[in-house]
Amino acid sequence: MRAIAVSAFRADPALVEMPKPEPEAGEVRVRIEYAALNPCDWQAAQGSLDDGLAPRVFPLVVGVDFAGRVDMIGSGGNRFRVGDQVFGRTAGPASGAGTYCDYVSVPQDSAITLVPDGLPLRTAAALPSAGMAAAEILEIAVLRGHESLLVIGAAGGVGSYLTQLASARDVRVLAAVRGDERKRMAALGATVTIDTTDRPLEAAVRETCPDGVDALVDLVSTTPDAFAARAALVRGGGIALTTRGVATGAALPADVTGIDFRLEPTPVLLDVLAEGVAEGVLRVPIDIELPLEKAPQALDRNRTGGARGKTVIVL
Ligand SMILES: NC(=O)c1ccc[n+]([C@@H]2O[C@H](COP(=O)([O-])OP(=O)(O)OC[C@H]3O[C@@H](n4cnc5c(N)ncnc54)[C@H](OP(=O)(O)O)[C@@H]3O)[C@@H](O)[C@H]2O)c1
Repeated sequence: MRAIAVSAFRADPALVEMPKPEPEAGEVRVRIEYAALNPCDWQAAQGSLDDGLAPRVFPLVVGVDFAGRVDMIGSGGNRFRVGDQVFGRTAGPASGAGTYCDYVSVPQDSAITLVPDGLPLRTAAALPSAGMAAAEILEIAVLRGHESLLVIGAAGGVGSYLTQLASARDVRVLAAVRGDERKRMAALGATVTIDTTDRPLEAAVRETCPDGVDALVDLVSTTPDAFAARAALVRGGGIALTTRGVATGAALPADVTGIDFRLEPTPVLLDVLAEGVAEGVLRVPIDIELPLEKAPQALDRNRTGGARGKTVIVL
């Protein structure tokens, strides 16, 4: 099968031929039709997510999100049948299950579920990682209607979903982006869009929320100091959440709760997201669609920023 893989951490991702994975007991093998790009794909390829504990599997096939059809079932009980349309998120390249490739084998009880009738596979592929992260973050932040949520990096995958899910609950979303994204973010439900290349973040936030925001979701800061500076915009008693693992060691205001978010994928969450799309609550903002052989360039581009919604890879 074709795959985009790296031969070692920090090597350039390249198109290679690999054997098809055989499904083990309790697994399904999926013929992937679409994969979606997430920053964790290039982060894993460069070794940033390596904890030194999980086995390292090279060539490491990049990618975690997928949509396609079940083409083979491993031995034992299984809730899927050959031919089912499915989508999901694998446990990641360290598990030997990347998704920028023609086939992947995953446990039938992992984060994989049926694609409901009417949901195109390419749309389903763009949901798992960013959609589940947005949904879980919203649960953790326990925001009620009219409370305020500042999202830094709101124009990308997680931010585009989070803005929609939060505004559907009447949360006031302050979307911090780089560039003039007012029209796009307003269409996703943002109350205010702040172009941080045009004006200082703090002044813009204080204009709308003089006492600070109820919650901060920082998708961007890569150091505890940068995160702490943004958490200073949260009111006393509020929360400051990072997806970049920089809350530990950050000097946050004493009465602001810092959270290091870690995604916990589940099939139930995938069903909830698919339902949200079916009901029209959630739009799937696919920005770029490209063939597998162009995936290395797309990874490079994402590393330098500029994401506007999701990039989908066609197998
Ligand atoms: N911990 C977890 O379990 C978990 C789960 C999901 C995601 N994440 C992480 O969360 C981060 C975001 O994920 P994603 O899928 O949303 O990534 P993405 O789709 O690549 O979007 C990132 C967005 O941030 C913007 N950005 C970068 N610097 C900015 C700044 N200073 N001010 C405003 N916007 C800025 C980028 O656009 P511009 O460059 O044009 O500004 C882009 O729109 C990634 O690092 C990802 O690995 C972690």
